[in-house]
Amino acid sequence: MATDVHRPVIPQAVHVEGLTRSFDGRAVIDDLRLDVRPGEFVALLGRSGCGKSTLLRILAGLDRDIEGTVLVPRRKAVAFQAPRLMPWKKVWRNVLLGLPGKPERAVAEQALDEVGLGHRSAAWPKTLSGGEAQRASLARALVREPDLLLLDEPFGALDALTRIKAQRLVGELWQRRGCAVLLVTHDVEEAVLLADRVLVMDGGVIAHEQRIDLDRPRDITDPRFAALRAGLLERLGVEATAAEAA
Ligand SMILES: Nc1ncnc2c1ncn2[C@@H]1O[C@H](COP(=O)(O)OP(=O)(O)OP(=O)(O)O)[C@@H](O)[C@H]1O
Ligand SMILES: [Mg+2]
Repeated sequence: MATDVHRPVIPQAVHVEGLTRSFDGRAVIDDLRLDVRPGEFVALLGRSGCGKSTLLRILAGLDRDIEGTVLVPRRKAVAFQAPRLMPWKKVWRNVLLGLPGKPERAVAEQALDEVGLGHRSAAWPKTLSGGEAQRASLARALVREPDLLLLDEPFGALDALTRIKAQRLVGELWQRRGCAVLLVTHDVEEAVLLADRVLVMDGGVIAHEQRIDLDRPRDITDPRFAALRAGLLERLGVEATAAEAA
């Protein structure tokens, strides 16, 4: 990736400067700047097609066809909306997939325990529920002991109750592990619930940022919570009243 010419004085988990990514001559990311502190939880919002997944894939090192500076920790892990488990490998083998060396099954089982899935270690992926598969995917990210955890709408396909549980789990894992997290989501409430800072991507850049200075665990009935949510919805061009009614 790009050379380390402008390393900032304060160490960052992510440092991106002048990042541009074009598809067919169209710049989806256009001179973007982004810094994430070690251990910071950042949520990334933005309308569909604005380039959130493109940015995440670049940070994950899955797309190197870029211009600009991108500095990320060596230890990073990514979980996508679809759990992407290999159907012919048992859950614990999926968790270890792609890890260097020959890690023990116990390593996988420890991560599975952490997401409450230790009892399904020997199961086939097709026998897991959607929420369980998503937790297996999280366990696969955790065994990498990431300094940066990249999550692309990991709860998007879950029903409301499972989603709330999965959000709580991610919040707990983050607090325990202390890694930086970049969470892409469409859900403003989820962003305000979990993040230290919420970013809105638009026009190929981070167009807006909102610090969330509420104590944890957060109370969605707190008027300050509602005010932050309304402000972000407005930024996204959604009428708060319409969203509330939905
Ligand atoms: N490999 C590719 N080839 C061509 N165009 C692409 C490619 N990947 C992404 N794009 C385009 O880049 C834009 C941004 O896509 P991206 O997937 O990053 O959006 P997104 O913000 O994640 O959207 P969503 O919220 O719907 O997931 C879209 O217009 C998409 O069509
Ligand atoms: Mg996307």
